[in-house]
Amino acid sequence: MKVKDILEKACYENILTKDEIKLLLMAEGDDKELLFKTADSVRKEHVGDEVFLRGLIEFSSYCKNDCFYCGLRRSNSQAQRYRMQEDEIVEVAKRAYQMGYRTVVLQSGEDMYYTKDMLCSIIKKIKSSVDVAITLSIGERSYDEYKAFKDAGADRFLMRFETSNKKLYRKYHPGMSFENRIECLKWIKNLGYELGTGFLIGLPGQTIDDLAQDILLVKELDADMIGIGPFIPHPQTPLKDAEEGSVDLTLKSIAILRLLIPDANIPATTALGTLDPLGRQKGLMCGANIVMPNVNDLEYKLKYELYPGKICINEDATKCRGCIESIIVSLGRKVGQGKGQSRHYKRAA
Ligand code: SAM
Ligand code: SF4
Ligand code: FES
Repeated sequence: MKVKDILEKACYENILTKDEIKLLLMAEGDDKELLFKTADSVRKEHVGDEVFLRGLIEFSSYCKNDCFYCGLRRSNSQAQRYRMQEDEIVEVAKRAYQMGYRTVVLQSGEDMYYTKDMLCSIIKKIKSSVDVAITLSIGERSYDEYKAFKDAGADRFLMRFETSNKKLYRKYHPGMSFENRIECLKWIKNLGYELGTGFLIGLPGQTIDDLAQDILLVKELDADMIGIGPFIPHPQTPLKDAEEGSVDLTLKSIAILRLLIPDANIPATTALGTLDPLGRQKGLMCGANIVMPNVNDLEYKLKYELYPGKICINEDATKCRGCIESIIVSLGRKVGQGKGQSRHYKRAA
């Protein structure tokens, strides 16, 4: 089957076989350009030209897990740890609102210092202070906790499954279980959150076959938001000498998922912008419609080091807001107004 025919099928049926996805992941030259152009026009048709901004608040760099790739892993004794207190988190959310953000993403390592009650209180305080949507990105918790956060006012939840290859998952996530992560994602969806999930591109040992399976799993989980980013080796982790993930495969995965879930929200991730100075722009031109600038103070940004060389690390939040807006306008797009709920979610509701 030719790439052109596969793209036509994807546009009409929003489903592809694993082999068809693999062919798209390996497309080069004109075929690759056609994939990107098709994804860009599907993006335009289904979610328009607006690019929605999310204010990212990384509120704790403590983590109980030991993911092999991540600078925040608990075995990294050189990691700089911090915890923002409740009022400080609420203040940063208010500041994000004043800068024009209508969604804040509360992200952290898996830090059990923040109890169910504390997180509910933070969510309620933010919701009663400013009119923003709240996305949580805090990892695995119990059903009861996810329910309490939703009842307290959380709207969305982001948690990548990282890789659908169970062997690789086990290897790189000691003490964690793939099955539990998937169960959490299903609970989150059933509780009525907008569900965000996705995977890392370029984990050592990952194959094109694995990536095709990852794409199919995002589709199967019926994600409303899709977060895909290249792996970037961190010098204080066991994967320090591994090769970084491919920007090209990241862009192709974004494009393919835009075809499979045309009305999802898909960010052009910071990791993509870190490996390629034009990475976020390229992402926005092949299917992405979201950017998540950091709104924290510099002091915290420097300490939340998942991987080295992160873009914007020395820029203050106001500068990033202006910078990202000019990038969006330079692409002939506009900054989205309002909370930018996923149309995929809205349609299903
Ligand atoms: N702890 C929560 C979790 O794991 O879901 C949320 C925060 S975690 C830092 C957010 C994402 O960072 C992870 O899903 C992972 O894919 C990504 N990440 C961690 N280390 C990375 C690295 N070295 N390169 C690229 N992305 C990385
Ligand atoms: Fe912790 Fe998330 Fe990093 Fe894993 S990816 S070590 S869970 S912060
Ligand atoms: Fe942060 Fe450009 S978006 S400096």
